[in-house]
Amino acid sequence: MSDYTFISGATGGIGRAFSISSAKRGYNLFITGRSEDRLKSLKEELIRSYPDIIIQYFASDLTDEKSRADMLDYIDKNGIKFERIINVAGVDIQKAFMEYTPEKVLFQIRVNAEATVTLTHALLKRRSEQTEVITISSMSGATPMPYFALYSATKAMLINFFTSLHYELKKEKVKVTVVMPGGVFTRPDIIKEIKDQKLWGRLSAKTPEFVAEKSLKAVKKNKIKYIPGFFNKFLYFVMKLAPERIVLRFIAKRWKKISKDAF
Ligand SMILES: NC(=O)c1ccc[n+]([C@@H]2O[C@H](COP(=O)([O-])OP(=O)(O)OC[C@H]3O[C@@H](n4cnc5c(N)ncnc54)[C@H](OP(=O)(O)O)[C@@H]3O)[C@@H](O)[C@H]2O)c1
Repeated sequence: MSDYTFISGATGGIGRAFSISSAKRGYNLFITGRSEDRLKSLKEELIRSYPDIIIQYFASDLTDEKSRADMLDYIDKNGIKFERIINVAGVDIQKAFMEYTPEKVLFQIRVNAEATVTLTHALLKRRSEQTEVITISSMSGATPMPYFALYSATKAMLINFFTSLHYELKKEKVKVTVVMPGGVFTRPDIIKEIKDQKLWGRLSAKTPEFVAEKSLKAVKKNKIKYIPGFFNKFLYFVMKLAPERIVLRFIAKRWKKISKDAF
């Protein structure tokens, strides 16, 4: 029985890049996202270029416990084990917290935090002898962010959680790396935001291919955290050292201007 690389959010910009980089390395893939059609066409596209790997897909809405359980049933019925778990799925609602609907508060927590942690737990129970875990958090998790508060908090949760897990599992042949990208050129609205940030955006942003390739290398070295790009590494240290009130004021001024939802 072959072992697999699990990729959530495979139908999005960063997940797709991880799927391609993993296929290039000859990894068998288990890809997921909500859209069966998009998963099917990604599988067909990858198989054309990498005919020697096995690709399985399962459409699952990660906010839905039953849908996650159905995916785990499928995994068990097919005797699938994981040598790599790549948690990419996430949603980025950006607005003042009091402008959220109650549904959107839960939606963001469920996709970014609940689904990532519960799936990691379930998939680690179905792991191969040696396993790598990569989770896409964000630079937004490095500090509290007014007007991006809940996204930032869910991503901070992932940083703390996977950093602890790295330590807990290091004697069990499980490598755990949490990745904290700045901007990544994926959806058109994100590309526009990066461009609107001018020099800052140019210095911070990376391509999805860069993030995927470097993250797959970082986990091999068992890095606890990986921050793509020199500017973002520098920013991370500045944010840790600068007085909190100044950081909060600076972030609030920039992020107050942006308001967008996720679906
Ligand atoms: N782009 C950036 O600038 C940036 C920077 C730092 C961190 N990140 C993080 O990187 C990850 C991917 O970002 P991206 O830019 O590639 O975004 P994207 O293109 O919007 O992709 C998001 C992925 O998450 C999946 N997803 C969303 N809600 C889901 C749900 N309820 N159930 C199952 N899957 C769901 C989407 O699948 P379907 O829509 O097909 O269901 C899609 O595959 C996110 O966690 C994001 O927070 C992004």
